[in-house]
Amino acid sequence: MKKGERGILIGIGLLVVISVGIKGYNYANQTEDEKDKGIPYYSTASKELAKQARVLFSKYDCHDCHSLWTKRSITQSVPAPSLDGQGSLKSEEWFYQYFSAENPQDIIPTRLKAEFKMPSFAMIPVEDRKTLAKYMASLKVEDWYLEETKKRAYEKLTGKEYKP
Ligand code: HEC
Repeated sequence: MKKGERGILIGIGLLVVISVGIKGYNYANQTEDEKDKGIPYYSTASKELAKQARVLFSKYDCHDCHSLWTKRSITQSVPAPSLDGQGSLKSEEWFYQYFSAENPQDIIPTRLKAEFKMPSFAMIPVEDRKTLAKYMASLKVEDWYLEETKKRAYEKLTGKEYKP
């Protein structure tokens, strides 16, 4: 290795050490409010329920339109609300009624074309609807992100600005 090259390598090494050091210093000096609070979404579902729900989500193509666990929906053009944190906004009973409705748009009106709106799942087995409802109710959001979750859902559903 030439002398000049070694100098450059040492220089880069020093820069890395300094920037990591500054980052660590900044982090240690953040107030509680500034600290990265991480992902606000979690589920209270058992492993078994989560597994069943995953099978149903793929069977009934929920991910075609909805995102969950930051997995984006495949059809990005469908502005369906994200399912993250939904269980903090509605009850298991509500989800069951919604999935069982012949016309879900009687419960939540749509602003989309027919092919993009929430389909009726009234024809699928009761057990599947119950499992889906139970799992939906388990999808919670931390309190500090509840308002933001409400806002996002409202704006997706109505296309209007959310005013609490
Ligand atoms: C063809 C696209 C599509 C598919 C497939 C679909 N949805 Fe939806 N869903 C929507 C849309 C769009 C809405 C918003 C209401 C509307 O426009 O009809 C919605 C609304 C919802 C809501 C209410 C959300 C809120 O903010 O109140 C829940 C819960 C939901 N869907 C769950 C599911 C589940 C679970 C599945 C799979 C079993 C599923 N959806 C499959 C498009 C879809």
